[in-house]
Amino acid sequence: MASNGIAMPLEATTPVNIDKYADTHPRVHELIRTRWSPRAFSSRAVSDEDLKIVLEAARWAASCYNEQPWRFFVGRKSDPEAHARFVDILVPANQVWAKSAPVLIIMAAKRTFSHNGSPNYYGLHDAGQALAHLMLQANALGLHAHAMAGFDRDKARQEIGIPDDYDLGAAVVLGYLGNPDQLPEQTRKAEVAKRQRKPLDEIAFGSHWNEPLAL
Ligand SMILES: Cc1cc2nc3c(=O)[nH]c(=O)nc-3n(C[C@H](O)[C@H](O)[C@H](O)COP(=O)(O)O)c2cc1C
Repeated sequence: MASNGIAMPLEATTPVNIDKYADTHPRVHELIRTRWSPRAFSSRAVSDEDLKIVLEAARWAASCYNEQPWRFFVGRKSDPEAHARFVDILVPANQVWAKSAPVLIIMAAKRTFSHNGSPNYYGLHDAGQALAHLMLQANALGLHAHAMAGFDRDKARQEIGIPDDYDLGAAVVLGYLGNPDQLPEQTRKAEVAKRQRKPLDEIAFGSHWNEPLAL
């Protein structure tokens, strides 16, 4: 248990001692510090209740005009036909590891505003916010989520029946942490590698392009 009372999901679930937590400012929230994107997932099922909670967290994201453009399509191992169909939509490099996880989600975002039909340039932006909610809520429940761009969008549209007025967002794997040893060697190396980020001064600036932000 962390000092702020939040359960530390990695220790609770991983069978091996790897440290994937962000090496960051001590005041960054534990839920953010301890979120990461594994590829080794166990086959342990995600309960209906936990699945509902992560989707509910996504539901409460902010969105432009409160349009809530996000839609989530869920393929679970408990429905083998749906799960196999979703695995088949992924590119082979993602199939290799993602197929072990019990839940696959494919996201879509409405392209137009419902109140006036005009283009909503923030549809995928807001779907991304909903995904961040989902990921952090998953972390709070001892689950992990891993987003993927590597899937066949046309196939997903066709297999799920997503209408033209919706963009495809990310595919997402949801489940419990597995053992890195279950992965092919190259993927296993990435699984245990330290996570990297650009320094803050490469992404945050003063009020002009490239002007340093004095913090
Ligand atoms: C929109 C999006 C698409 C991604 N696509 C893939 C993917 O197709 N395959 C994959 O293995 N990881 C994918 N990732 C995971 C990123 O590689 C990962 O988030 C990044 O390396 C940072 O690692 P972290 O999430 O553990 O901090 C994707 C992440 C996002 C947000």
